[in-house]
Amino acid sequence: MTIGTQKKVLSRRASEAEESVTLAITAKANQMREQGIDVISFSAGEPDFDTPDHIKKAASDAMAKGQTKYTPASGLPALRKSIAAKFQRDNGLTYDPAQIVVSCGAKHSLYNVMQAILEEGDEAIIPAPYWVSYPAMVKCAGATPVIVNTEEKDGLKMRPDQLRKAITDRTKCLILCSPSNPTGMVYSEAELKAVAEVCIEKDLLVISDEIYEKLVFGVPFASIATVAPKLRERVVVVNGASKAYAMTGWRIGYAAGPKEIMTAVGRMQSQSTSNATSIAQYATIAALDGDQGCVEKMRVEYAKRRDYIVGRLRKIPGVACGEPQGAFYVFPRVSALYGKKHQGKAITGSNMMSETLLERAHIATVPGSGFGADDYIRLSYATSMEKIEKGLDRLDQFVKELS
Ligand SMILES: Cc1ncc(COP(=O)(O)O)c(C=O)c1O
Repeated sequence: MTIGTQKKVLSRRASEAEESVTLAITAKANQMREQGIDVISFSAGEPDFDTPDHIKKAASDAMAKGQTKYTPASGLPALRKSIAAKFQRDNGLTYDPAQIVVSCGAKHSLYNVMQAILEEGDEAIIPAPYWVSYPAMVKCAGATPVIVNTEEKDGLKMRPDQLRKAITDRTKCLILCSPSNPTGMVYSEAELKAVAEVCIEKDLLVISDEIYEKLVFGVPFASIATVAPKLRERVVVVNGASKAYAMTGWRIGYAAGPKEIMTAVGRMQSQSTSNATSIAQYATIAALDGDQGCVEKMRVEYAKRRDYIVGRLRKIPGVACGEPQGAFYVFPRVSALYGKKHQGKAITGSNMMSETLLERAHIATVPGSGFGADDYIRLSYATSMEKIEKGLDRLDQFVKELS
């Protein structure tokens, strides 16, 4: 569409922005449900648990007290203090509250940080499989995503030599996600140290997405900012309330990093969304300062589901499944099934696999293509054990029907 004869209505940024695959699958599954079809969803990117009661109460108390007005754009001082205390307690990282900005979800934090540090001509390195939004956000900032393909033999984690090879004069930052969405892999302290050495040598900034920090199974969580003190002045750590406290709808994320960057993030946010919702900020203080037993309870439940789902997937011929150590996703390789047909319909890749699974087996998965890994599909186990069992029965049956 144009205005008059020449002016395009949409900016290049808007024209190029792609719809999130995850959201597209969820929309289609919802549509089928509205038609009365019993769809089992493995596509959710959010905890199936309810937000713990003490957190909800803090929000209703804030409402009752009339704490319903603007807050400072970068977040309530009390919340930024709680976040600083969390970083100290959990990660051994010392931040002044002035180095912390609270945003409307970790997604918003990531977006703001990229807007603050990236521009035309810059390159941002993203190991694949990656969370769908990273390349899109880099592009929204005018920069170029440079994808580094990881290998199964390395647990789908980036090796330092792969990082080194991808660096050019234009490389501005590395975007790291551990525990990972979609693979569930977790970088060890040694692996992070090795990656950090390259970043120090090559003068890179690092955006470390640690939103799944609390969901690790049998391995310790490590932050690249913690394990590489020399890199600390160049790392922006992103985290939030969504996954650990089952608070996706409250939209609270935060970033902490070098003062210069974080001041710029706060300044830019003050000209766009201003502060995150006041009552959600009060709720997050309760989440961070309160008893962490609720987090552990959910983690233990996810761990049981992970064990079950991995065990079942490994028994399905043509499905190869590694053991994720974190988050709430499994990322099985299903490419051995490509080329087969389901009642005449050819499975040509992950998009067709997910589409056919939804249409024929009534299970919603997310194609690996959106994560830069077409050989795989993503299944989230942030759903009840009963649904997981039923959904896997359907997947098993579907694969048996392939010819
Ligand atoms: C890796 C990763 N980072 C960030 C986010 C965004 O989290 P939030 O809901 O806090 O915006 C998600 C959500 O799915 C995610 O998977």
